[in-house]
Amino acid sequence: MAFDLDTFAETSEAVTWHDLDFDTFDEYPLDHQTLRTLRYMCDVEYHTSCFLREMLVTPSHREEDAAGFMTMWNREEFWHGEALAAVLARHGIQVDYNELKAKRTKLGWQLALSTMKQSALANLIGSDFVAVHMTWGGANELSAVAAYRRLADMTEHPALSPLLQRISQQETRHVAFYTTQARDRLQDSPRAQGLVRTILEKYWKPVGSGIMSEPEVQHVMGHLFGGRGEELDKLDKRIQRLPGLDGIAMFRSAFTRLGII
Ligand SMILES: [Fe+2]
Ligand SMILES: [Fe+2]
Repeated sequence: MAFDLDTFAETSEAVTWHDLDFDTFDEYPLDHQTLRTLRYMCDVEYHTSCFLREMLVTPSHREEDAAGFMTMWNREEFWHGEALAAVLARHGIQVDYNELKAKRTKLGWQLALSTMKQSALANLIGSDFVAVHMTWGGANELSAVAAYRRLADMTEHPALSPLLQRISQQETRHVAFYTTQARDRLQDSPRAQGLVRTILEKYWKPVGSGIMSEPEVQHVMGHLFGGRGEELDKLDKRIQRLPGLDGIAMFRSAFTRLGII
């Protein structure tokens, strides 16, 4: 799917959930495992928007489309966080965005790009940075789609499942942006292809790594993807379609390192 910034700008909006009957949570409350996973997702969604300012000073932001997209993308992720926080609040779990933001910003902006920034990008400049950033972002968004869909299927809840489907629908547009950008950078650049392949296969970790504690990452990824190697292969196939990345197995590698599959 190709990405069109104008269409995205015209249709970008907060995920809707006020029409969903949250009273059903009283009758069918979510179990502990699901709440723990949702808490993680909420935190990660909010985390994205804590650092917009910092994201906008990376080399990627100088790309015209990227700056426009990122501003709207950040808002959408924030609204995902809000929707999930509302579900958690129904179960007596409070997640406060401002509190989270204060805590995170104190830890420093390196957290903004988290594992990617720390492990892989320190020595990259210009177009190489952008190629890695966009492919990395595409992988993150692809796994977000898979995670939300999986949780929607697992819970089959009258209010939660439609909400998660709506969120995952928005995530598919994020995938389109990042993969369209990544394709442009990888095309005709064997150097970018080599870098991206090495860095992603070696360093990519599930979204939330480096922000959330290791046991939380383990729990959530095990909960959603434990024993689901074929699901991860499907994600790898999507990345393999990008120029010069045939045969890449970054998802399988990352989840194997975590001991999930
Ligand atoms: Fe999101
Ligand atoms: Fe997203």
